Amino acid sequence: MDYNTLLFMHIASAILLLGVGGGSAFYKFMADRSKNLDVIVHTNKMVVLADWLFTTPSVIAQPITGVMLANLMGYSFDDLWLILSVNLYLFSVVLWLVAVLLQISMRSVSLEAQAKSIALGKRYFRVVNYWIVLGILSFISMGGVFLLMIFKNRL
Ligand code: HEM
Repeated sequence: MDYNTLLFMHIASAILLLGVGGGSAFYKFMADRSKNLDVIVHTNKMVVLADWLFTTPSVIAQPITGVMLANLMGYSFDDLWLILSVNLYLFSVVLWLVAVLLQISMRSVSLEAQAKSIALGKRYFRVVNYWIVLGILSFISMGGVFLLMIFKNRL
């Protein structure tokens, strides 16, 4: 595959990754703040679905296209910017995976509350807080990779 096609796929999947991740986080944050159970349940379902449909494929495509680009350009994986990028990326993905597990659990808890017509308890909102912290850390790390990709020549 030629350089331009690979770079296009790499950047398109970066847009999808950050765009869907940021958008989902915003809508879920606002839904949880509304305290409206129907809104929360629907948003939790959509956030999990969006992760399967968009975020997961781009999380997989990102390192594959990245490594292919690095090989095509003759970069060494001993270069500081690539060492930092790969490690930050892995860190960010681990945080994201934990956040995904929390999302699945929040979806189940909210569905159960809806089925039983009871309000969401403090435990649910404590998990929301953990999810927010994980999301912020994961987003900052991914933002770091993004910056490293663009300002690599300065390292
Ligand atoms: C293991 C993960 C990754 C690897 C190995 C990797 C590797 C690379 C390589 C080799 C290039 C080509 C640089 C060049 O044309 O000289 C590149 C470009 C780029 N990457 Fe990554 N990448 C990874 C993850 C990411 C992530 C997570 C993002 C964004 C969230 C990202 C955003 C970009 C952007 C915007 C460019 C274009 C930079 C430019 O043309 O100046 N990459 N990447």
